[in-house]
Amino acid sequence: MKLMRDPKKLQAILKQERRKGRSIGFIPTMGALHGGHLSLVRAANRENDVTVVSIFVNPKQFGPKEDYAKYPRALGTDRKLLQPLKVDYLFCPTVRGIYPRGDGSLPAPPPLTGSRPTAEKADSSLSRRLCGKFRPGHFRGVMIVITKLLDIIGPCRLYLGAKDYQQTAVLGRLVRDLGLAVRIRVMPTVREKDGLAMSSRNQYLSPEERRRARAIPKALKKFRQDLLNRKGTIASLKARAIRELKRIVDRVQYFEIVDPVTLMPVTKRRREMAALTACFVGKTRLIDNVIIRASRQ
Ligand code: PAJ
Repeated sequence: MKLMRDPKKLQAILKQERRKGRSIGFIPTMGALHGGHLSLVRAANRENDVTVVSIFVNPKQFGPKEDYAKYPRALGTDRKLLQPLKVDYLFCPTVRGIYPRGDGSLPAPPPLTGSRPTAEKADSSLSRRLCGKFRPGHFRGVMIVITKLLDIIGPCRLYLGAKDYQQTAVLGRLVRDLGLAVRIRVMPTVREKDGLAMSSRNQYLSPEERRRARAIPKALKKFRQDLLNRKGTIASLKARAIRELKRIVDRVQYFEIVDPVTLMPVTKRRREMAALTACFVGKTRLIDNVIIRASRQ
């Protein structure tokens, strides 16, 4: 595993790898690695000749009141976790390396009016709902850093986790809108034994908060089960899920049932839906989701 910090050097090396006909699999991360990240690395190992992992806590995707400064940074542990896997290049750029002209956040995008260039559609139609509504500019920051990383690395395949469902939708749209020659591979959410989705932010939780956090995957699973068993309408089951969640977590920021592709709210049951939620347990914001597939209407 070669540790690389200089974007230009890595870009040149990977150009050589591609010239030799080697396929590149890329896993972007913000570090504080866990089983979810490692599952993406394993998938990339299976499907590519060269695996590149990046660790970069991207300032542009954090809001001014968010946890950029205290986001866990653990390069030593991360390297140890990656050691047993096959990672050819570990890319850990500096903020200056990625944003040579400064890391200040871009101003919030203007409200939507009229028609816009296609690249902005990803920003407008998918990224302002759900998490985007509560984290203005977040997905814009994700799109900017991923565009830069793809340009440096030039992978055949980009590995993303279903845990960040909206992120996969936004980036899928970005890749299509820009016509980028990269395939997105979305891998299933890896969970702790009690069902909590693995996340770098779980380490913020106190033992008591950690116990309460279980309620999130439980509520999603119950919602899915009840909907599939026709125990109520989407609206009634959603209201019940929110009610039950509110008894345990500190805030339900949203709990929405959406079309899995457009992320538009769904009010009548259909074959495929996604239930997405963001909740606060203590000061920690946790997200999770389930896909709901009915065998028949
Ligand atoms: P980060 O939160 O570090 O996640 C990196 C990748 O790991 C993402 O694709 C995420 O969906 C995936 N992942 C996280 N938890 C997972 C889990 N429990 N199971 C499966 N996959 C999981 O997401 C980001 O970083 C950033 O926004 C990034 C894409 C790197 C851009 O800065």
